[in-house]
Amino acid sequence: MTSKITTADHLKEVQASFNEQMDPRLVEILRAAVKHIYAFVEETKLTREEWKAGIDFLTATGQKCDDVRQEFILLSDTLGVSMLVEMLNQLPSDAATDPTVFGPFYVAGAPQFPMGASIAREGNAGEAIVFSGTVRDAAGHPLDHARLDVWQVAPNGLYDVQDPESPPMSYRGVFETGPDGRFEILTTRPVDYQIPTDGPVGQLLHASGRHAWRPAHTHFMVSCPGFKTLITHAFDADSPNLSRDAVFGVRESLIIDMNNGTAVFDLVLDAEGS
Ligand code: BEZ
Ligand code: FE
Repeated sequence: MTSKITTADHLKEVQASFNEQMDPRLVEILRAAVKHIYAFVEETKLTREEWKAGIDFLTATGQKCDDVRQEFILLSDTLGVSMLVEMLNQLPSDAATDPTVFGPFYVAGAPQFPMGASIAREGNAGEAIVFSGTVRDAAGHPLDHARLDVWQVAPNGLYDVQDPESPPMSYRGVFETGPDGRFEILTTRPVDYQIPTDGPVGQLLHASGRHAWRPAHTHFMVSCPGFKTLITHAFDADSPNLSRDAVFGVRESLIIDMNNGTAVFDLVLDAEGS
């Protein structure tokens, strides 16, 4: 009598088909991926129709992507996967600033400004605010030549790349510290905004009873020779969405007061190799 192939046998056969002589890390990732996908299919007893709906959803997600729209990153963000990757890859020391999600709206090549300059390109809309702080190492020494790449939404709740009316590189800028590690950036107070809902990810949020709001924040990517690059946000303590961020990125240590036209956000970088 021939014995029946079980689902466990099937998994083993597929895992064994990935050749270790090729890229061992790729093979490790593929074997783990099929293991967890099979477990998911078995646990949920996925029907053929549900499998097809999943394929259609992923197809639509890919079709929504273009040069400026990255629906797969949005999917990863809203499932909390992006934040998990940051938690594992940007493990800060106790002294260092907490990291958070990168998001899909970073644009390389923002203009470099002198300290104290404004990144707002849109006249006087919004509440003017001055961000200031010091970039330090974990021992408290100020960092010279720390580069701060800063970006945020305009007062209308849109990033420049989402808004055909916006001048390019609006609300984006690069600043470099001097020996005192200090920075000062003029902008407008960030506002709460909704992540894009006009694609498959928006449909998924809607179908699962979720909202699309992010609490008001300004993005910082901070790098300095000899130190690990930090990707983080400063969150406005007055935001009503702090406890319900659509992408799970809020950390208590990143919430600051943005009243009275000032926002103080000190930053601590871990040394490379620490
Ligand atoms: C952002 O903060 O820019 C962002 C992060 C995740 C998804 C969408 C937007
Ligand atoms: Fe953002």
